[in-house]
Amino acid sequence: MIILTKFLICLSPNKTYFCQTNNLLLMKKIIKKKDTRFEFGKNWSAYSKVINDNVVKKSILSLEKLLPKTFSIKKMSFLDIGCGSGLHSISAKLIGFKKVVSVDYDINSVSTTIQNAEKFGVEIDVFEDDVLNTNIDKKFDVVYSWGVLHHTGNLRKAIKESSNLVSKKGLYIIAIYRKTKFCIMWENIKYFYCRSNSFFKFVLFLLYFSILLFRLLISFNIKNLSKIERGMSLYYDAIDWLGGYPYESASKDEIVNMVGDKFKLTNSFSTSNSIGLLGTGCAEYIFQKK
Ligand SMILES: C[S@@+](CC[C@H](N)C(=O)[O-])C[C@H]1O[C@@H](n2cnc3c(N)ncnc32)[C@H](O)[C@@H]1O
Repeated sequence: MIILTKFLICLSPNKTYFCQTNNLLLMKKIIKKKDTRFEFGKNWSAYSKVINDNVVKKSILSLEKLLPKTFSIKKMSFLDIGCGSGLHSISAKLIGFKKVVSVDYDINSVSTTIQNAEKFGVEIDVFEDDVLNTNIDKKFDVVYSWGVLHHTGNLRKAIKESSNLVSKKGLYIIAIYRKTKFCIMWENIKYFYCRSNSFFKFVLFLLYFSILLFRLLISFNIKNLSKIERGMSLYYDAIDWLGGYPYESASKDEIVNMVGDKFKLTNSFSTSNSIGLLGTGCAEYIFQKK
């Protein structure tokens, strides 16, 4: 019974359970969803070792794809919310943005971004900030937040706060997990992963990574291992995906609704439905402030 209760607690991010304490059946809210968070920064710090000129080139291409051709960036400011390794902030500076500011909730991401900016010889302002309770009081020509807002624990609020930092006619570029049939299953797996000890984390990772490799092998896609988009890595992406909790996902309509009518959706990528069995994948949205 105790084992079963513990198992259910592990698997359930936001439910209330009964537990037996001193022979009394007490209803107790044991674990709150907001108490559990994946430490993204450690993964980004490890991933940094594989960042080289080639990786930066891929990141630059993926960033340029999101920017309108007519957009003149030389005098513009760029805010990267949830900068992670800092790779995409560095790319923004290298393609010519005048000012780049990078923020992250996780102090390890902040220090990793500072180190990577030094490594590539670019000047960017980096500091710790929580988008749900931001200290930023300036507006930016481009606010970029790739794969971040769905990990805050409050996607709606994160969109409201971050879109508020876009200047008039500025761009709001976000990437958010697509809604799939397997989102609830993944939310539970991620929660379980974050609550597990290092042994279980390793087992889960091994299982998931083997399935990913097997899928690539049977689709004769193994050469794609080195072609992960945005300069990312299959190995570190798999850790990021398994651990990435809190987790939310949204459809295109929901995102447009959350961003609201102060913005116009000018372009989007990868918004079509996916099965989501092995991972949800992000849809990219480019909005312009009216
Ligand atoms: C999946 S990573 C994406 C990193 C980077 N944007 C990229 O595309 O490589 C998510 C990042 O968001 C950060 N993050 C999570 N919650 C945040 C919050 N409330 N405020 C700011 N950053 C946050 C995490 O620390 C992590 O570095």
